Amino acid sequence: MALLELRDVEAGYGSLQILHGVSLHVNEGEVVAVIGPNGAGKSTTFKVIMGLIAYRGGDIVFDGHTLVDQRPNRILGLGLGYVPQGRVVFSQMTVRENLDIGAYLERDPAKIKASMEWVFALFPRLGERKRQLAGSMSGGEQQMLAMGRALMMRPKMLMLDEPSLGLSPRLVDELFDKTVELARAGLTVMLVEQNAARALEISDRGYVLELGRNRFEGTGRALLENPEVRTMYLGGGAR
Ligand SMILES: Nc1ncnc2c1ncn2[C@@H]1O[C@H](COP(=O)(O)OP(=O)(O)OP(=O)(O)O)[C@@H](O)[C@H]1O
Ligand SMILES: [Mg+2]
Repeated sequence: MALLELRDVEAGYGSLQILHGVSLHVNEGEVVAVIGPNGAGKSTTFKVIMGLIAYRGGDIVFDGHTLVDQRPNRILGLGLGYVPQGRVVFSQMTVRENLDIGAYLERDPAKIKASMEWVFALFPRLGERKRQLAGSMSGGEQQMLAMGRALMMRPKMLMLDEPSLGLSPRLVDELFDKTVELARAGLTVMLVEQNAARALEISDRGYVLELGRNRFEGTGRALLENPEVRTMYLGGGAR
């Protein structure tokens, strides 16, 4: 059964319509990649799901609840975690304070403590540096922190927007490994990636968006082997 489903979603900014009827779904336990050229509307799709920009049409259902006209807080509370594009951390706050903010909807201190320990087990570097200012962490560490912060609410599903952007190849590997580890532990994941081939390799399924519309969809493997997808989005011809 689909944990998240978008049907013909339309959205935009001011007088600009960006999404012209995007449909996709993510089943429980899946890793789903969303790829496509710059400006295709990938980040916009994530923002509309999280209630950060207004809907103009269509429907979004998460875990049996409609997300239409819901506030971001409520959407977070339903178990949908979100890591925005560009490793957004509070640079003048410590690692620990950033993680505390991630759990701001949680009132029970014992649960917050348990979540923080879980995040530190997942990303030991964050535990070692919990008193360091987030702004002085390396790019990769900041991306781990942004991910850890989203995990503090123990989401059912995590949406990652360009997690590997600007990271060294070694850190990209580490990040993809962590994503797979989380998925194996039962987290449902949807990720947008510029690093499309890598993302499809770890994904059960994927969608290609173009100009705010669905262009291709299929299993990760099928998309990796699709000659059109290869030429247009994976930087290569036929294998
Ligand atoms: N706040 C905004 N105001 C106006 N237009 C915007 C805004 N944010 C994005 N857009 C426009 O919406 C379109 C889709 O942007 P979006 O960020 O969703 O693309 P994307 O697929 O995530 O691209 P990228 O791969 O570069 O991150 C672009 O043309 C962009 O200029
Ligand atoms: Mg984007």
